[in-house]
Amino acid sequence: MSPQVFRTQSLIPHHALFLLCTILIFLSSNTIIFSSAQATNKTEDDRQALLCFKAGISKDPAGVLGSWRNDSLNFCSWRGVNCSTTLPIRVVSLQLRSAQLTGTLSSCTAALTSLFQLNLWNNKLSGSVPEDIGELRSLQTLMLAGNRLSGNIPLSLGTAASLRYVNLANNSLSGAIPDSLANSLSLSEIILSRNNISGVIPANLFNSSKLVAVDLRSNALSGPIPHFQKMDALQFLNLTGNSLSGTIPASLGNVSSLRSLLLAQNNLAGSVPETLGQIPNLTVLDLSNNMFTGYVPVTLYNVSSLTLFSLGTNNFIGHIPSEIGHSLPNLQTLVMGGNGFRGPIPDSLTNMSKLQVLDLSSNLLTGMVPSLGSLADMSQLILRNNKLEAGDWAFLTSLTNCTQLLILSMDGNILNGSLPKAVGKLSTKLQRLSFGRNQISGNIPAEIGKLVVTSDSINSW
Ligand SMILES: *[C@@H]1O[C@H](CO)[C@@H](O)[C@H](O)[C@H]1NC(C)=O
Ligand SMILES: *[C@@H]1O[C@H](CO)[C@@H](O)[C@H](O)[C@H]1NC(C)=O
Ligand SMILES: *[C@@H]1O[C@H](CO)[C@@H](O)[C@H](O)[C@H]1NC(C)=O
Ligand SMILES: *[C@@H]1O[C@H](CO)[C@@H](O)[C@H](O)[C@H]1NC(C)=O
Ligand SMILES: *[C@@H]1O[C@H](CO)[C@@H](O)[C@H](O)[C@H]1NC(C)=O
Repeated sequence: MSPQVFRTQSLIPHHALFLLCTILIFLSSNTIIFSSAQATNKTEDDRQALLCFKAGISKDPAGVLGSWRNDSLNFCSWRGVNCSTTLPIRVVSLQLRSAQLTGTLSSCTAALTSLFQLNLWNNKLSGSVPEDIGELRSLQTLMLAGNRLSGNIPLSLGTAASLRYVNLANNSLSGAIPDSLANSLSLSEIILSRNNISGVIPANLFNSSKLVAVDLRSNALSGPIPHFQKMDALQFLNLTGNSLSGTIPASLGNVSSLRSLLLAQNNLAGSVPETLGQIPNLTVLDLSNNMFTGYVPVTLYNVSSLTLFSLGTNNFIGHIPSEIGHSLPNLQTLVMGGNGFRGPIPDSLTNMSKLQVLDLSSNLLTGMVPSLGSLADMSQLILRNNKLEAGDWAFLTSLTNCTQLLILSMDGNILNGSLPKAVGKLSTKLQRLSFGRNQISGNIPAEIGKLVVTSDSINSW
């Protein structure tokens, strides 16, 4: 305080100073009471935030927000709103699933600071995800899948240690996966599939002992798959349909909790690491539509828990192991088409009793087509574009036992001789039958007329 001011003050008579002080104290204490009432009524703040959320909704054809009225104080009874049971009353959950709401997701939503669940799945919300949603300290579940949201994922999403589940699938989000999300130590599921998310997968994403499921399918991610560090909970990883390049990190084989690994439709290359064969309970492995080369590690043909194994459309070489039918007894789908596999189709396939789909098309396979009639659930047998022989056509007679057969695709081989009459006894469910571009002679058996086949298959005769 300057001496001048001090002098001025000292000139004021005592009683006047007393009066002034009283007025000041009165005013300021009043202000304190007034502002504290405003600041502490979090309940009313939440009500205002809900009304503000409603203001962002432009169309509500089902009248879901009909109960959300400014003159209604009891917002806990508004549709989709759940409140805390302890005082002060706060909004803890906002759930308006499949409510046909059009509009924007108002940034006021981030004022609901006690929210632990926000579920607006399957509406028509557009605009961006409010940045401040990442700041909600109690938020556990963020479910905004199936909307029209665009823009970036909030850069602070994941900083809240409460966050468990993030599902932003089926929107139009772009930009990169924020580091905050990748660094979260609490997240158990992160689902960002079917957006336009680009950039690289953050190096730290695969360093979490809590992550159980990661679904980044159908985005525009590029660069390599980062190394897998401490991942002891991961069961589901889907990176299908991106532009990922480089090789599969050998460290992926250390993720022994993994059940489903889907890396299809990328630009992945090199050989597949042997370590993948160490994952004891792997049930789904899809490596199709990449640029993998070399031999498939023999360890992979030994993962007996596999139900789906797809290597289709790569540059793999080698033989199909003769014991495959014994070492992969649980397979329902085996796709090895579109590679450089040579040699015979192993007879042991007859032991793969759960097999439904067998696609070995467009390889260099030779020898006789095995009789697979013991595979009662077989629905698609696709062996086209190889160098397979028919022998005495026993394979076709055997297939008349496969009552679920929908597709039998044998065109572009070196099948010769005449088609047996048994062709007429193939499954009544058959939708597609093709024997074109072979060396078949003689008449087409009249029995084939009993089959309901598409014109497509007739053309290929
Ligand atoms: C806070 O606001 C709510 C309405 O949102 C009201 O019911 C409640 O009485 C208010 N509490 C106080 C202490 O004023
Ligand atoms: C995806 O994002 C890229 C830019 O990263 C943009 O050029 C492209 O148009 C977007 N595609 C869609 C379908 O939104
Ligand atoms: C992996 O996460 C742990 C924390 O769980 C951290 O200490 C470690 O530095 C991370 N590793 C890398 C390479 O960032
Ligand atoms: C797998 O984990 C073991 C033990 O933690 C470690 O020594 C090894 O380097 C890891 N392998 C890879 C390929 O990262
Ligand atoms: C496959 O498993 C069998 C039985 O568990 C074992 O004898 C064989 O050595 C394994 N083969 C490979 C290539 O790991």
